[in-house]
Amino acid sequence: MDKLIVEGGYKLQGTVNISGSKNASLPILAAALLTDEPVRISRVPDVSDTNYMIQILSQLGASVERSSGTVRIESPDGISSSASYDQVRKMRASICLLGPMMARMHRCTLPLPGGCVIGDRPVDLHVRAIQALGARVRVKGGNLVIEAPNGLVGTTVDMRGDNGPTVLGTDNLMMAAVLARGTTVIESAAREPEVVDLANFLNKMGARIEGAGSRTITIHGVERLHGCEHTVIPDRIEAGTFMVAGIMCSDTGITLNRVCEEHLGAISALLRECGHTVNFNEAGDSVFVKAGEKPTSGKILTAPYPAYPTDMQAQMTALFSVTPGISVVKDTIFPQRFMHCSELKRMGANIKVDSGTAIITGVEGLSAAPVMASDLRASAALVLAALAAEGTTEIHRLYHIDRGYEMLDDKLMSLGAHVQRVPDPDEGKAEL
Ligand code: EPU
Repeated sequence: MDKLIVEGGYKLQGTVNISGSKNASLPILAAALLTDEPVRISRVPDVSDTNYMIQILSQLGASVERSSGTVRIESPDGISSSASYDQVRKMRASICLLGPMMARMHRCTLPLPGGCVIGDRPVDLHVRAIQALGARVRVKGGNLVIEAPNGLVGTTVDMRGDNGPTVLGTDNLMMAAVLARGTTVIESAAREPEVVDLANFLNKMGARIEGAGSRTITIHGVERLHGCEHTVIPDRIEAGTFMVAGIMCSDTGITLNRVCEEHLGAISALLRECGHTVNFNEAGDSVFVKAGEKPTSGKILTAPYPAYPTDMQAQMTALFSVTPGISVVKDTIFPQRFMHCSELKRMGANIKVDSGTAIITGVEGLSAAPVMASDLRASAALVLAALAAEGTTEIHRLYHIDRGYEMLDDKLMSLGAHVQRVPDPDEGKAEL
């Protein structure tokens, strides 16, 4: 296991390329199980979550080849319908195998993902969806055991939960429905760009999906799907993270290439409201960010897309920590997702967390401290704080960041940051 040593105070400049989206890649990789023909997926980021998914697909019997961002998957008939606990427990997103396994084999045994540091993470909506298509679901020995001996049948399913629509739940239902008999209508569907990317991928495979990106998605079941080629969308959360880095740690500003302006609407709007420069090129695939001369505090209310994403609240909290005035961050999706705040406080931030809300009073500057990453986005917030802080910060449990940021240390160094990844032999590996 590694830790990251960050010498704070070095100013970033230059240009960085944003990788393909982790959260779009995961269900798209799983969807390769829907056909026995080869699929080729490009711009899959080389992060541990995509590696876990590839390992699970291989264990199930798919043949997977990966070379420089492109993954080729072929899933012959006879692949296993049972995933192992050892693999699945490493990544909650492995729940998105449920839809493709049920569509292809009409049965699956999938270990129930356990709890998670950012919240309870239930799967009741995934279960409700597959039951609505006619499957029988049991929990046995910690596994979801799901069977639909007569196949899946399309119907109308409302996917809204107490905290709004579910992203991977919508993905699962879409993937289950593409080979179901008849038409499935998903009401209260998640509208995230990653859901649209999956729908585009499935349609390239021969699926008939309409309305992805809106609240109602209609899927007309087809007999079979075929192979295809697809390029994953840019990672809007990695882009948002670098936008904040450019604002917190640069005098001249930085440029991000390979982004998608449309997907960054809420993040760009907030940064502009707080007085910063966010300028996209005409094509919307490159953005220049620079700190404003008179930055102001801000308010975040996380909510499903197109509102402000929960996956970008920790990073913005790091920025608000050093922005004059009082900022407020409320997470309605994962109200417990504030583990980064206690670590930021160890670096001198002034934050109070109460009932899913962080109240941040900006301080003049942060100071280095040894800190502990607790989840993927929390660790990104700590890296941002460390880059801006005075002194040398050690960030432990770096494996959290490796789950979702491709070559983060290399990219930061190319912008002029002084960061070093070193082995951290004393660290016991905690549950992911
Ligand atoms: N929920 C339920 N029941 C369910 C499923 C979800 O109540 O069966 C609740 C959740 O507890 C949460 C809300 O619904 O309050 C939304 O959760 P969602 O299901 O949308 O989350 P997810 O699909 O499991 C994806 C991303 C997360 C991101 C969330 C929200 C992937 C692989 N993961 O998770 O990404 O935070 O959507 O946008 O796409 C990350 O990248 O750091 C990350 C955690």
